[in-house]
Amino acid sequence: MKKIFSLFLFILLGCGGNNQKASIESENESSVPKEINIILSSNDNMLFDKQILYAYSRQKITLTLNHNGKLDKKIMGHNFVLLKTGVDVVDFATRALEARENDYIPEGDEIISYTKLIGGGESDTITFDAPTKGTYNYICTFPGHYGIMKGILVVK
Ligand code: CU
Repeated sequence: MKKIFSLFLFILLGCGGNNQKASIESENESSVPKEINIILSSNDNMLFDKQILYAYSRQKITLTLNHNGKLDKKIMGHNFVLLKTGVDVVDFATRALEARENDYIPEGDEIISYTKLIGGGESDTITFDAPTKGTYNYICTFPGHYGIMKGILVVK
């Protein structure tokens, strides 16, 4: 009988220890880093290497766009253009076609942030604050590219 009791006590103490450990390991919101680095690469096959990017609201995002191809930006130029909520991507990309002199960035107030247009072997880095929680479209506005060179930034 005494043996059984001490076994019961052992289990009880064991459980208590586990609970304490679990509460220490529970996530703390303030542990979200203030800054995040994102590297997005593109190539001569008209592709981005990522279709989903993640960040936390109010994080300072440093994004580097790489072009790992060889073609000139006049033939296979790429950029990263992050659009505000509610912007019609097709309409925006269509107007971007007419903004050739401005590296296919149309006038207006629809963009959160964008890189310059780059060719093979080039890269560009931008820094901006993550917008509020939500999902945001990004595209390459070079003519004919937005259909497949697109993705979303998920802000948690
Ligand atoms: Cu492109």
